[in-house]
Amino acid sequence: MSDSDTYKKAAAEAALEYVKDDMVVGIGTGSTANHFIDLLAAMKGRIEGAVASSEVSAERLRGHGIPVLDLNAVGPLPLYVDGADEATEHLHLIKGGGGALTREKIVAAASEQFVCIADETKLVGQLGAFPLPVEVIPMARSHVGRQMLKLGGQPELRPGFTTDNGNLILDVFNLEILNPVEMEKQINQIAGVVTVGIFAQRPADVLILGGPKGVRVLS
Ligand code: A5P
Repeated sequence: MSDSDTYKKAAAEAALEYVKDDMVVGIGTGSTANHFIDLLAAMKGRIEGAVASSEVSAERLRGHGIPVLDLNAVGPLPLYVDGADEATEHLHLIKGGGGALTREKIVAAASEQFVCIADETKLVGQLGAFPLPVEVIPMARSHVGRQMLKLGGQPELRPGFTTDNGNLILDVFNLEILNPVEMEKQINQIAGVVTVGIFAQRPADVLILGGPKGVRVLS
């Protein structure tokens, strides 16, 4: 296992303490979330099930025998655990490197507590060095791309990728995200945008960072 993977796993392990008996747990997507899913398998008899933010995570959960439930059938969730591509000390995030941002944002919005798990290299002073994923309706691809240029970013269509919702992803490079809440609102208002990968209006509640010196918790 690489160092980065060891730190991701340590963060995932620390998140287990937020899981309580009989919970339905919201589960994210990505390599860090995968560690969490694998660790959660040991608790599967104690939880009621999970709501997954992607087909890939749903499949992994089922592979461990963890029941995958429909968010509409279970209502608000007590807990959502997911990774991030970038995080600030204000717990604002960029997500969507794996393309699952829309369902991730839905599950985060429907959860009382959002615990973000990551290796400590994801902690940044300002969001935006990681190209910002924006999920768009296919016919709006060019329109949204032009609006992103006006905001100062360079959009690139993620090649050969379709989201679980049948849409496309624009990865926007070099965007200066000085005010994540405002930038999230602004991009959300562009016609054809399904979801922008800034998670600032609903930030994480807890950020668990794994690193060479152990695990650090920001909240
Ligand atoms: C998935 O769409 C993303 O939001 C992931 O949460 C993010 O890319 C983190 O991925 P890793 O855990 O693989 O770094």
